[in-house]
Amino acid sequence: MSVSIKTPQEIEKMRIAGRLGSEVLDYITPYVKPGVTTAELDRLCHDYMVEVQGCVPAPLNYCPPGYKPYPKSICTSINHQVCHGVPGDKALKKGDIVNLDITVIKDGYHGDTSRMFLVGGDSNCSILARRLCQVTYECLWLGIAQVRPGAHLGDIGHAIQRHAESNGFSVVREFCGHGIGANFHEDPQVLHYGKRDTGIELKPGMIFTIEPMINAGKAAISELPDGWTIVTRDRSLSAQWEHMILVTDSGVEVLTLSAGSPARPDIVASLLP
Ligand code: MF3
Ligand code: CO
Ligand code: CO
Repeated sequence: MSVSIKTPQEIEKMRIAGRLGSEVLDYITPYVKPGVTTAELDRLCHDYMVEVQGCVPAPLNYCPPGYKPYPKSICTSINHQVCHGVPGDKALKKGDIVNLDITVIKDGYHGDTSRMFLVGGDSNCSILARRLCQVTYECLWLGIAQVRPGAHLGDIGHAIQRHAESNGFSVVREFCGHGIGANFHEDPQVLHYGKRDTGIELKPGMIFTIEPMINAGKAAISELPDGWTIVTRDRSLSAQWEHMILVTDSGVEVLTLSAGSPARPDIVASLLP
């Protein structure tokens, strides 16, 4: 496994791509309402990326080995869908939870980020759904708070797994965070479970995503016949949040922030500057 160290020029391009990815989520937020179809959200995001931002939607026709080309521009994963949900004609309804995962390509570099949305507002979602989304957000940030030169990849996974499991939830094993740059998915694989002091040592200039998928029930998943959509095997709810981060000389820089990014959770207040 060889993990690239980005040059200052590449880092600047990744900052721009990261902000643009996050701004797509800001743009789409007011449209995530009961009655909207995920295909409509896909079309709106596609047009915003292409026509307003001058970006390429990275998912469209993305075709890793063993897959068929991804048919849409964003991923929309509802309720028991874990990740890679393919937008379609199903309308969102009050009380659904949905992850929107955006990846833009700007000037040859990728910006990858996702958020959860509670459809119809928090008060319409079950207490379990709200707690799952909140704990998963805390897992993401507890992972981010581990990042500094000299830390190990396993420190991130350990922090995420400990928080998820201590809340009675489970960590999806089959999908992970990833290095990212001129390629959508690069080394390293960033597992969302693991042991402290294991895995590669983090060095300044590494850029990767952290994107925990946390299930309310068991960790096992299945793939739907569309060849993309991943669901929980027990059909329990699943949540995911994703940021793209840079290892800096002194710690961590989150690259996928914008005006509409939710605030960091209180749980990391004492862990980050
Ligand atoms: N954005 C996803 C990730 O975080 C990857 C989606 S691949 C797609 O890695 F083809 F489904 F879009
Ligand atoms: Co990603
Ligand atoms: Co993503």
